[in-house]
Amino acid sequence: MNTQPAPNASLAEGFAQVGALFAGDDGDLDRIYREHRANKPVMQGDICAELGSASFAGHTGRPIYTIFKHADVMKVLRDTKTFTSGILMETGLGPFLDGLMITGLDGDEHRQLRGILQPSFTPAVMEEWRETYIRPLIQRSFIEPLIPLGKAELVSTVGVMFPIHVVYAVLGFPDNDPAALETFATKALKVLGGMANNPEAKRAAFEAFQELYEPTLLAVQARRASGAEGPDLISRLIRAEFEGRTLDDHQITNFVRMMLPAASETTSRTFAIMMTHLFDHPEVLERLRADRTLMRKVLDESVRHDAVATFKVRECQADVTLQDVVIPKGSIISACVGSANRDETVFENPDVFDIDRKQMAAFGFGFGAHMCVGMWLAKVEIEEAVGLLLDLLPNLRLDPAFPRPVVRGVSLRGPDAVHVVWDAP
Ligand code: HEM
Repeated sequence: MNTQPAPNASLAEGFAQVGALFAGDDGDLDRIYREHRANKPVMQGDICAELGSASFAGHTGRPIYTIFKHADVMKVLRDTKTFTSGILMETGLGPFLDGLMITGLDGDEHRQLRGILQPSFTPAVMEEWRETYIRPLIQRSFIEPLIPLGKAELVSTVGVMFPIHVVYAVLGFPDNDPAALETFATKALKVLGGMANNPEAKRAAFEAFQELYEPTLLAVQARRASGAEGPDLISRLIRAEFEGRTLDDHQITNFVRMMLPAASETTSRTFAIMMTHLFDHPEVLERLRADRTLMRKVLDESVRHDAVATFKVRECQADVTLQDVVIPKGSIISACVGSANRDETVFENPDVFDIDRKQMAAFGFGFGAHMCVGMWLAKVEIEEAVGLLLDLLPNLRLDPAFPRPVVRGVSLRGPDAVHVVWDAP
């Protein structure tokens, strides 16, 4: 029998706290970015700090340059020799992770680890997981229980929980221990909060990380002992090999811990952003209801228009000149994806949400060597969540008793809440 999914209080609270930390003053963001692209596309300083948002770049005491144009962001993300990622090890969670924080690795070390991980995250694996883990899980645990209710707030009942539940399931963890799952999810969010330059959040992140280690290691060891032949992610990572290298249990445990914050918050917010765009554009919602092959286009345009993680941080390994500004070796570059994805020299009418626009490279999932390894997983689970909502909740629409959702935030974007109603049986 289905039970109503209680809005997950501690998780929703953690989600709101992380959002608040990275929100800043976003009231005039589109105009500020437009003016920067036109007049000051390379700015000495950290725009996040100027706008009052926690920043991934502000911890180092080095000079920071924020870049706003599509061409410059692409150049920086593409050239991994000149613009390295190792600084993320210092500023983020690297020290806790024994050098296995993939986002902070460079050169051959990164290439090799990526080579081991990539085959577990291909579109083909995701299409298999779509049928075996993802759709059944989201349908049974999140959407079916909503059907009789007639109304819900989608961020707290669906958004914050389904991505972590999906990760938990694809890792091959048993599905019958909700308390363990909630603990896992809450810790994942605390870990993300630790990326900000805030001592209390850092302490909470460190503790959450420590507490995640042992249960995860035990699961990896148990899987290896039983032959690791399954289709789940832990078994795949145990079997994975690239250029003769494999991962030991400690390395897999660290990757799993790192994956949790990477895979949860981003996916939750992107789901909520996509729902907001659908309600803001009823004609697109109608087209999608009639033709589900449009799902990927709607998602991709949502990610372009409102990327969730809007800044990428790199360190200059040489003096470089961007837009006539000389950036000295050792400086930090904060690449503003939110601005680059709206660059009018690449995207026609960039502020318009247009699912039929010409496909051009956008950076919502990153670009180049560090491009999101979980992109196909994220896409499949968001598509399933949105598709099932439309399939199973007839005449789904915004609840007129609440304010319309608004996508907000400087360095982490998303709506705070999406209140909906539908025709209950
Ligand atoms: C909508 C959801 C997601 C968004 C918007 C997103 C975004 C990103 C971005 C922008 C990067 C590049 C970071 C950089 O260049 O410094 C990245 C990297 C990464 N993402 Fe995601 N991500 C999402 C979901 C996921 C999921 C579900 C996973 C699960 C495995 C994941 C795992 C990773 C990993 C491991 C990296 C590091 C890749 C590398 O450094 O080679 N992400 N993600």
